[in-house]
Amino acid sequence: MIFIGSDHGGLELKEVIKAALISRGIDVRDCGTDNSDSVDYPDFAEKVARAVSRGEAGPCNEADQGILICGTGIGMSIVANKFPGVRAALVTDEFMAQMAKQHNNANVLVLGGRVLAAEMAVKMVNTWLDAAYEGGRHQRRLDKISQLEEAVRGGEL
Ligand code: RB5
Repeated sequence: MIFIGSDHGGLELKEVIKAALISRGIDVRDCGTDNSDSVDYPDFAEKVARAVSRGEAGPCNEADQGILICGTGIGMSIVANKFPGVRAALVTDEFMAQMAKQHNNANVLVLGGRVLAAEMAVKMVNTWLDAAYEGGRHQRRLDKISQLEEAVRGGEL
């Protein structure tokens, strides 16, 4: 399952990416927005990040991923990374999309609808989906992120 969301700045690209995901046979949940009215990106980042953070029916797992799109991707990434277990990566090219999965195991891909050509953005999404997390030394680093999350939540930091 991939949860996808955008604000008005990312709507057009969201529709293109949604169609590309569906054509790959991927189960997509569209969390909005669904028209060009000006909206606030935190509202849509929250919907997607909550779903990925919690997992649909339990703890976050590989099957629960998200894609967020606003004008630049900046606002969406700021909000999504507030949620425990969410590793949202704002990427601007295919190499970053690949590294986001291989090294960071990013479970939310963030794109800028006013930054990227649609064709390139679709390639980046496919690259991210097809890449495999490498684990190993990268897991130690992800574990440190989890420890930081816990410490911040517990008021230790
Ligand atoms: C909306 O105009 C714009 O600020 C938003 O889409 C995004 O780029 C924010 O980071």
